[in-house]
Amino acid sequence: MKTIGLSVALLISASLSFADEFPPKIDPPVARDLWVSFDQADLASPEAAGFPLSSPVLSDARTAVYVVREQMLPVLSEFMHDRFKRCGGYLAHDSEAAARAAMRPSAVVPRVAYTLDQQAVVTPLVAAVSEANIRGTIADLAAFNNRYYQSETGVSAAQWLKGRWSELAAKIPGASAELFTHASWKQPSVILTIPGSEKPDEIVVLGGHLDSINGWGSSAARAPGADDNASGIAVLTEAARLLAESGYRPKRTIQFMGYAAEEVGLRGSQDIAAKYAAGGKKVIGVIQFDMSNFKGSGDGIFMLTDFVDPALSAFTAELVNTYAGVQASTTRCGYACSDHASWSKKGFPAAMAFEATFDGSNKAIHTERDTLATSGGDASHSVPFAKLTIAFAVELAKTAPAAGGMRKPLSR
Ligand code: BES
Ligand code: ZN
Repeated sequence: MKTIGLSVALLISASLSFADEFPPKIDPPVARDLWVSFDQADLASPEAAGFPLSSPVLSDARTAVYVVREQMLPVLSEFMHDRFKRCGGYLAHDSEAAARAAMRPSAVVPRVAYTLDQQAVVTPLVAAVSEANIRGTIADLAAFNNRYYQSETGVSAAQWLKGRWSELAAKIPGASAELFTHASWKQPSVILTIPGSEKPDEIVVLGGHLDSINGWGSSAARAPGADDNASGIAVLTEAARLLAESGYRPKRTIQFMGYAAEEVGLRGSQDIAAKYAAGGKKVIGVIQFDMSNFKGSGDGIFMLTDFVDPALSAFTAELVNTYAGVQASTTRCGYACSDHASWSKKGFPAAMAFEATFDGSNKAIHTERDTLATSGGDASHSVPFAKLTIAFAVELAKTAPAAGGMRKPLSR
């Protein structure tokens, strides 16, 4: 989703002159190496003719890894976009060790039965989902100049989210919101944990990326990211509000995650998934929300069919049809397009719920035009996604017998 002309112009101008006022201020070039992995199947296809890298430093049957300068990433994105008619198509890693770790298959996770039996808890909660609250969170996040992983405002946005999630956590005994810091860049991820009462070691992850990007990648460029992905974070936040205000207690642990640095190679979620796999954490189900507010293919929720767990995705579609008030259908990205892929690649079951078919989705992402107005000025298309978030949390984590019972009625 990047403009090669602009990327190349910026790279050239960055190396020629710093005296001019135009192009506008960009980061000083930092000579940092990254390890970037590609699917061998992609590289072997005719579309990859003229691929700009040679001699992988690591390779196996599935993956080839190259070392590149960080400034090369926009050029690679544009090549993949041009040839494969898609964004991205590679994963970036900070070190050879991280690239090797990403190639390794991962810990074995216990399979849990997916059962749909929590109607008494889920139904009143989903009835109280508020469009205005979702819209408000989208507007708050889009007000940061950008949420780029290397910019100060990208750090501020993560801290702001930690503050919001901490207010909600304060309403749940034992719950807390924490920053998850990453060694190689400054924007942290944010994790809100609701501990499980019976099986605290089994974890249900509800996530979306909190960062945004303007296609040419400068840390100063305006990138409201209202749909991509303030909408996903807003959906998670509204679901967390209702769980917190209702007095709900889960049997399994629930973690809400706002990932850093998705737009630059799924880096935040890869870091977290790798650490969870290495730590033997039992993540029994992951759902990803990345773009929920642009109604490009009519009503409904579109379940991705690639880089996901088919059984969990089929179960999630049932949850949509039962609780979200819209119908589930399917679509595919064709590449590892968001953080669900980081979990899938580590062997954890993951699903992703999307706003439209891939072709019908918002074309203004990664530009200054990804505003609430571009998505119709309200958050109505996101409301079913917040309902799905609640249903996924409660049906996978189940309900602990609450000491004081659940509070009703809930306010919008
Ligand atoms: N939200 C997008 C992915 C997306 C775009 C899905 C359009 C469906 C339709 C995501 O934030 C993104 O841009 N991902 C990167 C991933 C890459 C850096 C590994 C992309 O697609 O370029
Ligand atoms: Zn996104």
